[in-house]
Amino acid sequence: MKTTSTVLLTGGLVLAAAGGAWVARTTFERTPELALQYGTLLPEPHALPHFVLTDHSGAAFDETRLRGQWSLMFFGFTHCPDVCPTTLALLADVRKRLDTVAPRVVFVSVDPERDTPALLATYVTAFDPTIVGLTGTVPAIDEFAAALGIAHRKIPMGADQYMVDHTAAVFVIDPEGRRSALFSPPFEPAQITSDLRRLLAGT
Ligand code: NI
Repeated sequence: MKTTSTVLLTGGLVLAAAGGAWVARTTFERTPELALQYGTLLPEPHALPHFVLTDHSGAAFDETRLRGQWSLMFFGFTHCPDVCPTTLALLADVRKRLDTVAPRVVFVSVDPERDTPALLATYVTAFDPTIVGLTGTVPAIDEFAAALGIAHRKIPMGADQYMVDHTAAVFVIDPEGRRSALFSPPFEPAQITSDLRRLLAGT
């Protein structure tokens, strides 16, 4: 009898412990920053390196300008025929869906030789007047893109023309200016909106 009781008691404790662990894990997974369905959450937020670029009004833009609000950062170039305009239109759509909690969109040029602040200003604000375009010196852009793992290279198209092949990822930057998550193609506005609601509500 004693042996049986011990076994039953032990079994009960194991079940209770397992139940407790299950409840704890479920609760843990419900915390918003760990519940992205479509994007990739960084295990820890990553501070951006120091950088100095130029915004589309011609003003200096460094990492401190990313603090105080959520941002979505995308790299591309204004001569891009497909991915960049499609993605900027999609991010403008996401902003509309998120309305008052919408993150700001920051578009970083990987073609600083052609993308002057004036050209960027016309380009980005056509998608959404709040989008910020960034350009800079070639070394500054190269260094910043490399630090974020954004590959980009010119593809000659003849007659002094070229395309820029580039990584299409959307970084989510938290209000402390740290990379918090990223989205990779194919982008779907409802999915990004859904994940952003969770991520933003978790802070
Ligand atoms: Ni592009």
